[in-house]
Amino acid sequence: MMLSKVLLFSLLSLLLVLIPAAKTAGSSFIYAACFPSRYPPNSPFQSSLDSVLTSIANAASQSSYASFAAGNDSSSPPGSAAYGLFQCRADLSSGECSACVQSAVGQVGLLCPNAYSASLQLDGCLLRYADEDFAGKLDTTVVYKKCSPERSAGDGGEFFRRRDDVLGDLGSGQEYFRVSSSGAVEGYAQCVGGLSSGDCTACLSEAVERLRNACGPALAADLFLQQCYARYWTSGYYPGAADAAGYTDDDIGRTVAIIVGILAGVALLVVFISFMKKAC
Ligand SMILES: *[C@@H]1O[C@H](CO)[C@@H](O)[C@H](O)[C@H]1NC(C)=O
Repeated sequence: MMLSKVLLFSLLSLLLVLIPAAKTAGSSFIYAACFPSRYPPNSPFQSSLDSVLTSIANAASQSSYASFAAGNDSSSPPGSAAYGLFQCRADLSSGECSACVQSAVGQVGLLCPNAYSASLQLDGCLLRYADEDFAGKLDTTVVYKKCSPERSAGDGGEFFRRRDDVLGDLGSGQEYFRVSSSGAVEGYAQCVGGLSSGDCTACLSEAVERLRNACGPALAADLFLQQCYARYWTSGYYPGAADAAGYTDDDIGRTVAIIVGILAGVALLVVFISFMKKAC
């Protein structure tokens, strides 16, 4: 009796340990924004949405951005049009991008059940869909803002100078993905594909301007608008350094998970053997 409880407990802990091991680079959750209005199950909209999400999941191994539409031709019933897109952080490999988008597609229905419109931002990718066409349209609505509770010590002079260097880089240039660092401060910025280059520039200069004023001497801050985002952090703020970009932390996490998984497996084996011995 006692032993089977121990066995069950070991099995459960093994499972709990192995779940994080499945986590891939760039898959940390940042935000989910769900439109409150719900579509009826098995509606034409749902079948269009399913087809858009399937196309998105398939396309993510080929490119870092794509948008899709379904149910928007004249033969489709009214109200069935669905539009969707994904954007991976441009420094992810195609395998990482694909894994991130698959993960987002798998989660969005759980986070925003039956929502007519939803955005799910993971560390490495954005998934967004709606019942109206939004791809390529400049929209600088703030969706998510976060300031670290940790603040720069002292008068922050050095910190502000470095941070403003980084924000200056992120707010200028033509690239859709921008990376910068100055001293201990690092950051990156990303536009959603489909925007014109001019709209990307406008979006990022607004994001950076808001970010500059949003968080005072916070050591790390994120600002996500509908079509672009900018983030910065101070090295050492995230344990394991470069993990705001989703690298180190995930690698360490995966290694630890594998080691603990092996240990749990050995423990399980020991319990099992002693159980068999008693039974014989
Ligand atoms: C459906 O929407 C997409 C995206 O806006 C557009 O490219 C396509 O032409 C539309 N299809 C029809 C039949 O209107």
